[in-house]
Amino acid sequence: MTRSVTEWVNVTSDVAIIAHESGQVWFHTPNRTNQELDPFALPMTGKGSAGSTVGLLDGALNLGFSTIEKRLAQPEPTLAGYIVALVGAYHTSVHTPRNLRRAASRFDELGRPEVAAYLEDRACEETGHDRLALKDLHALGVPGERLVANFIPEGIKPLCERFDALCVQDYPIGCIGYSYCLERIAALKQKSDIDRVQALCPGGVDATRFLRSHSCLGSEVTHVEETIKFVASLDANDRIGIVQETYQSALIMAEGYNHELLKSEVEMRGELQRAIGEALPYRMGSYASPAEEGGARPAA
Ligand SMILES: [Fe+2]
Ligand SMILES: [Fe+2]
Repeated sequence: MTRSVTEWVNVTSDVAIIAHESGQVWFHTPNRTNQELDPFALPMTGKGSAGSTVGLLDGALNLGFSTIEKRLAQPEPTLAGYIVALVGAYHTSVHTPRNLRRAASRFDELGRPEVAAYLEDRACEETGHDRLALKDLHALGVPGERLVANFIPEGIKPLCERFDALCVQDYPIGCIGYSYCLERIAALKQKSDIDRVQALCPGGVDATRFLRSHSCLGSEVTHVEETIKFVASLDANDRIGIVQETYQSALIMAEGYNHELLKSEVEMRGELQRAIGEALPYRMGSYASPAEEGGARPAA
Protein backbone atom coordinates (compact mmCIF):
# COMPACT_ATOMS: atom_id res chain seq x y z
CA MET A 1 0.00 0.00 0.00
CA THR A 2 1.39 3.44 -0.89
CA ARG A 3 1.42 5.99 1.92
CA SER A 4 -0.46 9.22 1.36
CA VAL A 5 1.71 12.31 0.98
CA THR A 6 1.97 15.05 3.59
CA GLU A 7 4.35 17.95 2.99
CA TRP A 8 5.36 20.80 5.26
CA VAL A 9 7.52 23.90 5.15
CA ASN A 10 8.54 26.34 7.88
CA VAL A 11 7.98 29.75 6.30
CA THR A 12 8.74 31.80 9.42
CA SER A 13 10.34 30.92 12.76
CA ASP A 14 6.92 30.17 14.22
CA VAL A 15 4.73 29.11 11.30
CA ALA A 16 4.90 25.86 9.37
CA ILE A 17 2.46 25.13 6.55
CA ILE A 18 1.35 21.51 6.45
CA ALA A 19 -0.47 20.18 3.40
CA HIS A 20 -1.95 16.79 2.62
CA GLU A 21 -2.29 15.45 -0.91
CA SER A 22 -6.09 15.55 -0.45
CA GLY A 23 -5.78 19.35 -0.51
CA GLN A 24 -6.16 19.95 3.25
CA VAL A 25 -3.86 22.66 4.63
CA TRP A 26 -2.96 23.60 8.22
CA PHE A 27 -0.88 26.38 9.75
CA HIS A 28 1.15 25.03 12.65
CA THR A 29 3.48 26.45 15.32
CA PRO A 30 6.42 24.04 15.47
CA ASN A 31 7.62 22.96 18.90
CA ARG A 32 11.33 23.70 18.66
CA THR A 33 12.12 22.85 22.27
CA ASN A 34 11.00 19.28 21.77
CA GLN A 35 11.67 18.43 18.15
CA GLU A 36 11.36 14.70 18.75
CA LEU A 37 7.71 15.17 19.60
CA ASP A 38 7.04 17.47 16.66
CA PRO A 39 7.96 16.02 13.26
CA PHE A 40 7.05 19.32 11.59
CA ALA A 41 9.83 21.20 13.42
CA LEU A 42 12.40 19.55 11.11
CA PRO A 43 12.57 20.01 7.31
CA MET A 44 10.56 17.49 5.26
CA THR A 45 12.56 14.98 3.26
CA GLY A 46 9.93 12.91 1.40
CA LYS A 47 8.37 13.08 -2.04
CA GLY A 48 5.85 15.66 -3.13
CA SER A 49 2.43 15.32 -4.74
CA ALA A 50 0.45 17.83 -6.80
CA GLY A 51 -2.29 18.04 -4.13
CA SER A 52 0.05 18.75 -1.23
CA THR A 53 2.40 20.99 -3.23
CA VAL A 54 -0.41 23.31 -4.32
CA GLY A 55 -1.56 23.38 -0.68
CA LEU A 56 1.87 24.60 0.41
CA LEU A 57 2.19 27.16 -2.39
CA ASP A 58 -1.28 28.63 -1.93
CA GLY A 59 -0.91 28.45 1.85
CA ALA A 60 2.26 30.55 1.52
CA LEU A 61 0.42 33.07 -0.67
CA ASN A 62 -2.51 33.35 1.72
CA LEU A 63 -0.21 33.78 4.68
CA GLY A 64 1.76 36.53 2.89
CA PHE A 65 -1.38 38.43 1.94
CA SER A 66 -2.94 38.01 5.39
CA THR A 67 -0.31 40.42 6.77
CA ILE A 68 -2.11 43.36 5.13
CA GLU A 69 -5.67 42.14 5.60
CA LYS A 70 -6.54 44.82 8.13
CA ARG A 71 -4.93 47.63 6.12
CA LEU A 72 -6.23 46.47 2.76
CA ALA A 73 -7.15 49.35 0.46
CA GLN A 74 -10.22 48.82 -1.69
CA PRO A 75 -10.54 51.91 -3.83
CA GLU A 76 -13.04 52.37 -6.63
CA PRO A 77 -11.28 51.45 -9.88
CA THR A 78 -10.21 54.44 -11.99
CA LEU A 79 -8.57 54.84 -15.37
CA ALA A 80 -5.52 56.51 -13.74
CA GLY A 81 -5.21 53.50 -11.41
CA TYR A 82 -5.47 51.16 -14.37
CA ILE A 83 -2.76 53.03 -16.27
CA VAL A 84 -0.47 52.79 -13.22
CA ALA A 85 -1.27 49.06 -13.06
CA LEU A 86 -0.33 48.69 -16.75
CA VAL A 87 2.99 50.40 -16.08
CA GLY A 88 3.53 47.95 -13.21
CA ALA A 89 2.59 45.06 -15.51
CA TYR A 90 5.17 46.26 -18.04
CA HIS A 91 7.95 46.41 -15.45
CA THR A 92 7.17 43.01 -13.95
CA SER A 93 7.23 41.45 -17.46
CA VAL A 94 9.94 43.21 -19.41
CA HIS A 95 12.93 41.40 -17.85
CA THR A 96 11.21 38.09 -17.17
CA PRO A 97 12.59 36.16 -20.20
CA ARG A 98 16.13 37.48 -19.61
CA ASN A 99 15.98 36.71 -15.88
CA LEU A 100 14.56 33.22 -16.34
CA ARG A 101 17.22 32.42 -18.97
CA ARG A 102 19.94 33.53 -16.55
CA ALA A 103 18.56 31.17 -13.92
CA ALA A 104 18.24 28.42 -16.57
CA SER A 105 21.88 28.68 -17.59
CA ARG A 106 22.93 28.49 -13.93
CA PHE A 107 20.94 25.26 -13.52
CA ASP A 108 22.63 23.95 -16.65
CA GLU A 109 26.01 24.64 -15.05
CA LEU A 110 24.81 22.90 -11.90
CA GLY A 111 23.92 19.75 -13.87
CA ARG A 112 20.15 20.20 -13.48
CA PRO A 113 18.92 20.08 -17.10
CA GLU A 114 15.29 19.44 -16.08
CA VAL A 115 15.11 22.72 -14.13
CA ALA A 116 16.94 24.54 -16.94
CA ALA A 117 14.48 23.19 -19.52
CA TYR A 118 11.48 24.19 -17.39
CA LEU A 119 12.83 27.74 -16.99
CA GLU A 120 13.68 28.01 -20.71
CA ASP A 121 10.09 27.03 -21.55
CA ARG A 122 8.78 29.63 -19.13
CA ALA A 123 11.07 32.26 -20.68
CA CYS A 124 9.63 31.52 -24.15
CA GLU A 125 6.05 31.63 -22.87
CA GLU A 126 6.61 35.00 -21.18
CA THR A 127 8.29 36.63 -24.17
CA GLY A 128 6.40 39.63 -25.52
CA HIS A 129 4.12 40.14 -22.51
CA ASP A 130 5.64 43.58 -21.87
CA ARG A 131 4.47 44.48 -25.40
CA LEU A 132 0.87 43.67 -24.44
CA ALA A 133 1.02 46.27 -21.67
CA LEU A 134 2.55 48.84 -24.05
CA LYS A 135 -0.17 48.18 -26.63
CA ASP A 136 -2.82 48.72 -23.95
CA LEU A 137 -1.21 52.04 -22.98
CA HIS A 138 -1.11 53.15 -26.61
CA ALA A 139 -4.75 52.14 -27.05
CA LEU A 140 -5.57 54.55 -24.22
CA GLY A 141 -3.72 57.35 -26.01
CA VAL A 142 -0.82 57.30 -23.55
CA PRO A 143 2.80 57.47 -24.84
CA GLY A 144 3.67 54.08 -23.39
CA GLU A 145 7.42 53.96 -24.08
CA ARG A 146 7.98 57.39 -22.56
CA LEU A 147 5.83 56.58 -19.57
CA VAL A 148 7.53 53.29 -18.69
CA ALA A 149 10.99 54.77 -19.31
CA ASN A 150 10.35 57.53 -16.77
CA PHE A 151 8.16 55.82 -14.22
CA ILE A 152 8.14 52.68 -12.16
CA PRO A 153 5.43 52.63 -9.48
CA GLU A 154 7.03 52.72 -6.03
CA GLY A 155 5.13 49.65 -4.85
CA ILE A 156 6.25 47.59 -7.86
CA LYS A 157 9.97 48.40 -7.64
CA PRO A 158 10.78 46.03 -4.72
CA LEU A 159 9.05 43.19 -6.56
CA CYS A 160 11.16 43.72 -9.69
CA GLU A 161 14.33 44.02 -7.59
CA ARG A 162 13.46 40.77 -5.81
CA PHE A 163 13.12 38.88 -9.10
CA ASP A 164 16.34 40.35 -10.51
CA ALA A 165 18.19 39.28 -7.34
CA LEU A 166 16.67 35.78 -7.22
CA CYS A 167 17.65 34.97 -10.79
CA VAL A 168 21.36 35.68 -10.25
CA GLN A 169 21.71 33.67 -7.06
CA ASP A 170 24.16 30.75 -7.01
CA TYR A 171 21.18 28.44 -6.61
CA PRO A 172 18.29 30.39 -8.14
CA ILE A 173 15.41 28.02 -7.28
CA GLY A 174 13.52 30.86 -5.57
CA CYS A 175 12.68 32.39 -8.96
CA ILE A 176 10.07 29.63 -9.35
CA GLY A 177 8.38 30.69 -6.11
CA TYR A 178 8.35 34.33 -7.20
CA SER A 179 6.84 33.43 -10.59
CA TYR A 180 4.23 31.22 -8.98
CA CYS A 181 3.20 34.10 -6.73
CA LEU A 182 2.63 36.49 -9.64
CA GLU A 183 1.00 33.97 -11.94
CA ARG A 184 -1.32 32.51 -9.32
CA ILE A 185 -2.56 35.97 -8.30
CA ALA A 186 -3.11 36.84 -11.97
CA ALA A 187 -5.00 33.59 -12.60
CA LEU A 188 -7.48 34.55 -9.87
CA LYS A 189 -8.73 37.46 -11.98
CA GLN A 190 -12.17 36.70 -13.38
CA LYS A 191 -14.01 37.85 -16.49
CA SER A 192 -16.00 40.23 -14.27
CA ASP A 193 -12.70 41.96 -13.29
CA ILE A 194 -11.87 42.46 -16.97
CA ASP A 195 -15.39 43.74 -17.70
CA ARG A 196 -15.04 46.27 -14.86
CA VAL A 197 -11.82 47.60 -16.40
CA GLN A 198 -13.33 47.57 -19.88
CA ALA A 199 -16.17 49.73 -18.56
CA LEU A 200 -13.59 52.37 -17.51
CA CYS A 201 -12.19 52.58 -21.04
CA PRO A 202 -13.78 54.67 -23.74
CA GLY A 203 -16.06 52.78 -26.12
CA GLY A 204 -14.25 50.84 -28.82
CA VAL A 205 -10.86 50.97 -27.07
CA ASP A 206 -9.28 47.56 -26.46
CA ALA A 207 -6.90 48.12 -23.56
CA THR A 208 -7.18 44.80 -21.73
CA ARG A 209 -4.78 42.62 -23.73
CA PHE A 210 -2.37 42.20 -20.82
CA LEU A 211 -5.17 41.68 -18.31
CA ARG A 212 -6.93 39.05 -20.44
CA SER A 213 -3.76 37.09 -20.94
CA HIS A 214 -2.93 37.38 -17.20
CA SER A 215 -6.29 36.20 -15.89
CA CYS A 216 -8.38 33.04 -15.69
CA LEU A 217 -9.12 33.55 -19.41
CA GLY A 218 -5.48 33.49 -20.51
CA SER A 219 -2.32 31.41 -20.38
CA GLU A 220 -1.75 31.94 -16.64
CA VAL A 221 -4.02 29.05 -15.67
CA THR A 222 -1.91 26.59 -17.69
CA HIS A 223 1.30 28.17 -16.40
CA VAL A 224 0.12 27.70 -12.81
CA GLU A 225 -0.90 24.07 -13.43
CA GLU A 226 2.41 23.26 -15.09
CA THR A 227 4.36 24.89 -12.29
CA ILE A 228 2.51 22.90 -9.60
CA LYS A 229 3.24 19.66 -11.45
CA PHE A 230 6.89 20.57 -11.90
CA VAL A 231 7.43 21.72 -8.31
CA ALA A 232 5.79 18.55 -6.98
CA SER A 233 8.34 16.49 -8.95
CA LEU A 234 11.35 18.20 -7.34
CA ASP A 235 13.18 16.99 -4.26
CA ALA A 236 12.20 18.20 -0.80
CA ASN A 237 14.91 20.87 -0.45
CA ASP A 238 13.88 22.51 -3.72
CA ARG A 239 10.20 22.42 -2.77
CA ILE A 240 11.05 24.02 0.58
CA GLY A 241 13.03 26.83 -1.11
CA ILE A 242 10.24 27.50 -3.60
CA VAL A 243 7.49 27.63 -0.97
CA GLN A 244 9.58 29.90 1.27
CA GLU A 245 10.14 32.27 -1.65
CA THR A 246 6.46 32.20 -2.58
CA TYR A 247 5.80 33.46 0.94
CA GLN A 248 8.49 36.18 0.76
CA SER A 249 7.30 37.33 -2.68
CA ALA A 250 3.69 37.41 -1.45
CA LEU A 251 4.74 39.66 1.45
CA ILE A 252 6.51 42.06 -0.93
CA MET A 253 3.67 41.95 -3.45
CA ALA A 254 0.97 42.54 -0.82
CA GLU A 255 2.79 45.55 0.64
CA GLY A 256 3.57 46.97 -2.79
CA TYR A 257 0.09 46.57 -4.23
CA ASN A 258 -1.46 48.05 -1.12
CA HIS A 259 0.93 51.00 -1.29
CA GLU A 260 -0.24 51.72 -4.84
CA LEU A 261 -3.92 51.17 -4.04
CA LEU A 262 -3.74 53.63 -1.15
CA LYS A 263 -2.76 56.47 -3.49
CA SER A 264 -5.40 59.00 -4.39
CA GLU A 265 -6.51 59.58 -7.97
CA VAL A 266 -4.85 63.02 -7.84
CA GLU A 267 -1.52 61.53 -6.73
CA MET A 268 -1.62 58.93 -9.47
CA ARG A 269 -2.48 61.45 -12.15
CA GLY A 270 0.36 63.68 -10.92
CA GLU A 271 2.86 60.80 -11.17
CA LEU A 272 1.71 59.90 -14.65
CA GLN A 273 1.74 63.47 -15.93
CA ARG A 274 5.23 64.15 -14.53
CA ALA A 275 6.49 60.99 -16.25
CA ILE A 276 5.12 61.85 -19.69
CA GLY A 277 5.71 65.59 -19.33
CA GLU A 278 2.24 66.48 -20.56
CA ALA A 279 -1.40 66.23 -19.58
CA LEU A 280 -3.07 62.84 -19.75
CA PRO A 281 -5.47 62.36 -22.63
CA TYR A 282 -8.43 62.23 -20.25
CA ARG A 283 -9.94 64.21 -17.41
CA MET A 284 -11.13 63.16 -13.95
CA GLY A 285 -13.71 60.44 -14.45
CA SER A 286 -13.80 61.00 -18.18
CA TYR A 287 -11.71 60.32 -21.22
CA ALA A 288 -11.02 62.40 -24.28
CA SER A 289 -9.74 60.35 -27.19
CA PRO A 290 -6.75 62.06 -28.85
CA ALA A 291 -8.76 62.05 -32.06
CA GLU A 292 -11.67 63.78 -30.43
CA GLU A 293 -11.44 67.46 -29.76
CA GLY A 294 -13.69 68.86 -27.12
CA GLY A 295 -16.31 66.28 -26.22
CA ALA A 296 -15.00 64.01 -23.49
CA ARG A 297 -17.04 60.85 -23.08
CA PRO A 298 -17.99 59.34 -19.77
CA ALA A 299 -15.63 56.57 -18.78
CA ALA A 300 -18.34 54.17 -17.70
FE1 LIG B 1 3.22 36.97 -18.42
FE1 LIG C 1 2.67 33.47 -17.22
